[in-house]
Parts: sequence; C-alpha cells; structure tokens
Amino acid sequence: MPIVSPTANAIHAAAEQLRDGGLIGLPTETVYGLGCDASNPDALAALYKAKGRPTNHPVIVHVASVEQLSDWAMDIPEVAHTLAKAFWPGPLTLILKKQPHVLDAITGGQDTVGIRIPSHPVALDLLRTFGGGITAPSANRFGRISPTTALHVMDEFGDHLTVLDGGPCAVGVESTIVDVSSGTPRILRPGMITAEAIQNSTPLQQTKIFTKHGPAVRVSGSLTKHYAPTTPTLLMARDDLHQAWNDLPYEEQGTLGLLLLTPLTHENGPAHVRVLGTHPTPYAAGFYATLRELDTKGLNALWIELPPNEPGWEAILDRLKRCAAL
Ligand code: TXA
Ligand code: MG
Repeated sequence: MPIVSPTANAIHAAAEQLRDGGLIGLPTETVYGLGCDASNPDALAALYKAKGRPTNHPVIVHVASVEQLSDWAMDIPEVAHTLAKAFWPGPLTLILKKQPHVLDAITGGQDTVGIRIPSHPVALDLLRTFGGGITAPSANRFGRISPTTALHVMDEFGDHLTVLDGGPCAVGVESTIVDVSSGTPRILRPGMITAEAIQNSTPLQQTKIFTKHGPAVRVSGSLTKHYAPTTPTLLMARDDLHQAWNDLPYEEQGTLGLLLLTPLTHENGPAHVRVLGTHPTPYAAGFYATLRELDTKGLNALWIELPPNEPGWEAILDRLKRCAAL
C-alpha cells in the first residue's frame, strides 16, 4: 500500500515515520517532494542515497509558518519578509543566511539555507503535525523529470516508499528560488512566480532583481542537463517544426512525439501529439506529466514547440532548454 490517501491517520503515521528517520513522498503545489526530517543526518544520508544526488547539492527546508524562519535562518532582511508576505504559502523558496546548527547535508556546505512554505494543504498538514522542518527535494532520481502525481513518485522509487496522494500538482514546475541572503533579491531558478511579480510586490518596485547565477552558488537546478527525458529532445520554432513534420514520411511521423501549444493544421500520421495550450499556467500544470508520458513510449525523438519569449513563460523556457540540452 505505497500510495495512501491523506487522511488524518495517514498524516499522523507519515509524521511518525519522519520522526523515525524515514522518507515520505509528499505532494506540494509545485511538484512532489521526497521528504525527511531536516535535522536528522541519517535520514538526510538516506534521502541523498535514494535520489542518487551528489551530496554537495543543497536541499530546501519546508516549514509550516513564518515564525519557523528563525529556526533555520538568521540576519533575515526586510525584503525576505516582504516576499514571504506576498507569496507564502506558495511556490517561492528564499535563500537566507543559515543558523549555525543547520547541517551541511542541507546546505551543501554553504553558509545559506533554502526555505519554503508550500501551499498544498496535505504538505501543510504534514508539516504542522510533524512540527519541525521537512527537507524535500523533488521526488525524482537525480537528473530526471520531476513528479507531479503520486504515481510518478512510485515510478521513481518503487512501492516501499509511502507516498501521500494529494492529486496532480496545480503549479507543475518547481518553485522560484530567490536568494535574499545579500539583501538584494536574485533569482537563482525561475518559477511560476515571475521576476515581474516579485518586482511588483510592494515595496520592491525600486529593487533591481538579478537573474544571473552567481559563480559560487551550487544549484543543481542550474546544471545544463536536468529535468530531462531519456528520449532525444529538440526544441523547435513553430514554423520549422511544422515544415519538418510535413516533410516526414508517414511511418516516421509515428516514431515522434510532438509537444505543441496549438494543434497542427494537417496532422496526419500515427502521431503522438500532445497540445498544452497557449497560456503558461495550464501549460506548466500539464508539462512534466506529458513529458513523462511521452518518454515512456520508446519514441525516436520528442519535438517541442518553442513557447513565446514572453513574461510568464520564463520557468517553462528554462526547463525546456534543459530538456533539449545535449
Ligand atoms: O518546488 C520546489 O522547490 C520543490 C518542492 C518539492 O518543494 N523542491 C525542489 O527541490 O525543487 P530540489 O532539491 O529538487 O531543488 C532545490 C533547488 C536545488 O537546485 C538546490 O541546489 C537549490 O534549490 N538550493 C537549495 N538550497 C540552496 C542554497 N542554500 N543556495 C543555493 N541554492 C540552493
Ligand atoms: Mg529537483
């Protein structure tokens, strides 16, 4: 019984498992996480091992309330409170100066810690019941596509892991990571909370938001080949994709998967065509599940239509570029 319905009993049992040093699959509004007690070094070692993740890559600590911020972080700048007020609970991770007790296994040996209050009710329920911080990287093996359903988590880790089923994730891509440890917000990983939204959150209008990665910060989400399907993936402008598709013989069309914003006019062939629409919000919500589904079909290639280079699409463009990296 690896996937469980998040009843009060199941939440209590999951919190107990965390206290015993166990791992739990849990839903968040962004993607599913592989959770463990953030203050238990043995549990963290087991988590890194399960994910196959290099131990020098930092992980995020999830907490239930803003009051818990100071359990993990110190010298918290005003801008952190402003962002917390505007976007928590929600898909935002803040990088802050860490408290001395925060384990190197959390921070990757850096002097900062990533913290987030998720908005998924099951995640919040588990966090409140557990009481402490829960470390939860995305519940996929290192380098693979992030999971957005309980079933995806089971596909990654097998049925010995308990996964609380919170339904499909509403946001669908990982949280926006904003480093505020220097006082000036800097986006380390784009998410569905955009640079523009951060800029507009009062009183940050005058604050310059930097989006370039600093050289000293290790962010596994910034590795080039990440979040990637195993099927060779090409990112193509609409016209090029359409032309190339029309030029293909019928039999070859059947060996491709197409991920599109809108349907092609002449879809012939035994096509594996998936259409995610022209709005970034529903596109993001369906994105990883669709990639994962197409990736299981043993296709020769995935052709992905390049979304517009417009505000709102940053997170998706970022993930697409990683998918298509060689
Ligand atoms: O939406 C999310 O953030 C999901 C859900 C489960 O909360 N979690 C997630 O975790 O995406 P993970 O471990 O897959 O990605 C966390 C990212 C990594 O790229 C990590 O390097 C970065 O956060 N990170 C964590 N702490 C950091 C720190 N102190 N400095 C810089 N980057 C940090
Ligand atoms: Mg991840």
